[in-house]
Amino acid sequence: MTEAFIGSVVLRSRALLAPMAGVSDRAYRELCMEHGAGYCVSEMVSSKALSFQSKKSEELMVISDIERPCGIQIFGDEPSCMADAAVHAMKNKPDIIDINMGCPAPKISGSGSGSALMRKPELVGEIVRAVTAVCDIPVTVKIRKGWDDGSVNAVEIAKICERAGAAAITVHGRTRMQYYKPPVDYDIIRQVRESVQIPVIANGDVDSAQKAKEVMERTGCALVMIGRASLGNPWLFEQINSYLSGEQPYFPTLEEKLDTMVKQVGKMVEYKGEYIAMRQARKLVVGYFKGMKGAASLRNEAGKLSTLDDIYKLRNRILNT
Ligand SMILES: Cc1cc2nc3c(=O)[nH]c(=O)nc-3n(C[C@H](O)[C@H](O)[C@H](O)COP(=O)(O)O)c2cc1C
Repeated sequence: MTEAFIGSVVLRSRALLAPMAGVSDRAYRELCMEHGAGYCVSEMVSSKALSFQSKKSEELMVISDIERPCGIQIFGDEPSCMADAAVHAMKNKPDIIDINMGCPAPKISGSGSGSALMRKPELVGEIVRAVTAVCDIPVTVKIRKGWDDGSVNAVEIAKICERAGAAAITVHGRTRMQYYKPPVDYDIIRQVRESVQIPVIANGDVDSAQKAKEVMERTGCALVMIGRASLGNPWLFEQINSYLSGEQPYFPTLEEKLDTMVKQVGKMVEYKGEYIAMRQARKLVVGYFKGMKGAASLRNEAGKLSTLDDIYKLRNRILNT
């Protein structure tokens, strides 16, 4: 398979890990990259918080060599503040700076950032120009189909981003008002793909190797980005890679799944400390239980995890029943 690039950055494969606040932390990104993801992106980092030297935001930007190539995603609605944030983020030596123009959460879009930017095409251009002007690495933008069904403008926004210097665009084929549920519109992603020269990354509901190939064919995109379906299933990346190369996809055993769950939580504890890590792990480990016998009661048990030892105990109990 030919190599894929974003600007000058060579991707490890065509299946990329989506940025997910509260999920795609360093532990998770490392795991997915070890399992064949082509590229990963940090959780979104507030440009305003960076200007106040927020410790939490600094921590979100720590990148290790295992996860390269890795982008840092920033959000905000002021061009100069976004440019300052990009300069600040680059101290962590990311491979790419990604701009969030897709987040639907009221906390973000309510203040004019994330998906709300799609309602202000002029500002989109100003932000991308301001950020590309200060970056010596590729700048990418993650957008949605539009704000709502009455204002579908992904093609217009993508063209503006390209003209302003963006090196690639990720399109989540839903409007902001659709959040994450209704069917993804892959036709709009194809329209964006056909309207710009830079790489377009197709995003939304890719949950199997077959679906990845189907989405690539339908949209014409050489790259797909995967979020939720990778939760508890980092093997999805290598499955996609195998399938695209005409090889038989690999499916992990129960023991491998549980060992990977333990590994992920172990890394989280190492990077964030046990108290924070175990609270976050309660939500994250449930992905590993999908398809397991007694998944509902396992989810219940996960809600009570509080020490690293608890995750080892849970692993052993599942294996021995
Ligand atoms: C829990 C969660 C957190 C997310 N956080 C971000 C984020 O920080 N930045 C961003 O651009 N998108 C974020 N997204 C959107 C995902 O990157 C992706 O576009 C969306 O989940 C659709 O892809 P999927 O169907 O493969 O999950 C988030 C999604 C979820 C479910």
